[in-house]
Amino acid sequence: MYKIKDIINQIHCADCLKFLKKIPDDSIDLILTDPPYNVGKVFDKKQEKTYFDIKFHKKWLKECDRIVKLDGQMYIFWWSGFLKEITNILDYKQVLYWTKPFAMMRRGRRGWQNFTELIFWKVYSDDFTFNALKGMDSKDYFTDVSCINLPNERFHITQKPISLVEKLVGAGSNPNDIILDPFSGSGTTLVAAQNLHRQFIGIEISQKYCEIIKNRLKQKPLL
Ligand SMILES: C[S@@+](CC[C@H](N)C(=O)[O-])C[C@H]1O[C@@H](n2cnc3c(N)ncnc32)[C@H](O)[C@@H]1O
Repeated sequence: MYKIKDIINQIHCADCLKFLKKIPDDSIDLILTDPPYNVGKVFDKKQEKTYFDIKFHKKWLKECDRIVKLDGQMYIFWWSGFLKEITNILDYKQVLYWTKPFAMMRRGRRGWQNFTELIFWKVYSDDFTFNALKGMDSKDYFTDVSCINLPNERFHITQKPISLVEKLVGAGSNPNDIILDPFSGSGTTLVAAQNLHRQFIGIEISQKYCEIIKNRLKQKPLL
């Protein structure tokens, strides 16, 4: 088993199925992740599966349930086309919606163009951090819908907007809490954690994206 102090504030280039097994029980405050959508996207030249890989998703979710603290929580980005499958394997509290007003239209695909993505929110007890209410008096209070454009400059084809990820990290954790992203991609969760003075653990299987994350984490300001 790893000691948290030895793996914190780093990106680990590894298969999360193996790495997660070595993270101690009850050690993570917030898991925020964006697993492969299983819609045939190509990440670092490898095409992901085109069907919802239940076995795979169950495995990493099981490890996440083990390592998150009882007062911790999890946010997961997922595609609405697999809602039935997701509901079968995930016991979530609420679904949030991210809409992308200026996403590019893709013609030729037989199905409605997605301008909305789902974010599943799971908690493990009634004693979870919820800072969203703190913003209720201000203009930018949090609702379950975020209307935020895709990032202009992207390091990854499914990169999430930093402002959206910061909103979730800010709502679901406190300074110095430990945030984990087992599918880090270009590292948006880790950048958000660093910006908000949280600690983080990143896992990403692609060496190319790990290098991108390392460089991104060195940038000032972090975007
Ligand atoms: C949807 S992307 C994440 C994008 C990220 N949210 C961002 O803003 O850049 C999913 C990532 O998971 C990685 N991945 C796929 N299988 C993995 C595994 N078994 N372990 C770790 N990473 C994996 C892929 O290489 C890909 O970069």
